[in-house]
Amino acid sequence: MSEKLLEINNLKTHFFTEAGVVPSVDDVSFSIKKGEIVAVVGESGSGKSVTSLSIMNLLDKAGKVVNGEILFDGKDLTKASEKELRNLRGDDIAMIFQEPLTSLNPVFTIGNQMMEPIRLHLKLNKKDAKARCIEMLDKVGIPRAEKVFDSFPHSLSGGMRQRVMIAMALSCNPMLLIADEPTTALDVTIQAQILNLMRDIVEDLGTAILLITHDLGVVAEMADKVVVMYAGQVVEYADVFTLFKNPKHPYTQGLIESTPKINQLYEKLHSIPGTVPNPLNYPSGCRFVDRCPFAMKQCITHEPNNTYTADGHTVKCWLHEMDRIENETLKEKVRN
Ligand SMILES: Nc1ncnc2c1ncn2[C@@H]1O[C@H](COP(=O)(O)OP(=O)(O)OP(=O)(O)O)[C@@H](O)[C@H]1O
Ligand code: SF4
Ligand SMILES: [Mg+2]
Repeated sequence: MSEKLLEINNLKTHFFTEAGVVPSVDDVSFSIKKGEIVAVVGESGSGKSVTSLSIMNLLDKAGKVVNGEILFDGKDLTKASEKELRNLRGDDIAMIFQEPLTSLNPVFTIGNQMMEPIRLHLKLNKKDAKARCIEMLDKVGIPRAEKVFDSFPHSLSGGMRQRVMIAMALSCNPMLLIADEPTTALDVTIQAQILNLMRDIVEDLGTAILLITHDLGVVAEMADKVVVMYAGQVVEYADVFTLFKNPKHPYTQGLIESTPKINQLYEKLHSIPGTVPNPLNYPSGCRFVDRCPFAMKQCITHEPNNTYTADGHTVKCWLHEMDRIENETLKEKVRN
């Protein structure tokens, strides 16, 4: 197996709507190694979910991957057949979404719903599949797992249902777990419990996680690497320590300043003024230009490139491209 379990290169996903083409994901690249937790963070509408749905081709009809490759264990999923993708889903790649699409079916017992993928993917008989279910329910900290196995979803609390979802997702030993806002609907204490649980299980099984969240507190607790998205693009990409110690993009800096737990130095909470631009009408230069306290003239007209540093830190901002332009006169010229 290659060192990179998942490698997304220059992904563009567009929605073809009556109002026009929505470039929801625009040239996104990042990778995940085996056993690694990579968080994708950004405000609502930044393209986090569309990125994750593109991986397994679960976009709705209007959506299409129009460019790039998604390599899973070396195989390009953008070229895979629906049958190949179906085999991967729930087997090598598992997903937990907040959306009802993948939540539990109210008319079947927990056991019924858990058994099916286990029997299919692990090819176990009924007795062994049941034993596996109980083992997984135990693992995610569900008391009286045997009883829960025979219960219907409505008899469980939100936190318990989410634990069941995690147990289901991990029951076939996936190589990659995609978790899109897995705890947002739960109260804070349960959130922390469930995230810790996910981290422990993942450490045990060596599963990699693509964790989508808009909560930087969760990122700091969980992630090895962080992808910061803004308006469909990756604006910063770094390991978690580097990102919090030395955030380079003004958007990331704003996000950190507006996160209470992380930003203990600031007495007053900042929030980033302004809103995300309309995706049908993105600015031609930097997409953050209307909200950026450091915006310069060329930010309006020219899109910044990705600047890479030796330690793998990537930032898409003119301030950092400028750092590389050594000639002061030239710098002044570009600035004006
Ligand atoms: N089915 C669709 N048709 C048209 N546009 C869509 C569709 N789904 C998503 N989009 C657009 O794509 C962009 C990215 O959406 P996405 O759901 O990925 O955001 P997100 O980062 O997951 O936000 P949130 O934090 O609210 O979940 C948004 O502008 C959204 O309006
Ligand atoms: S490119 Fe310009 S507007 Fe965009 S984040 Fe950097 S300084 Fe701000
Ligand atoms: Mg989303």
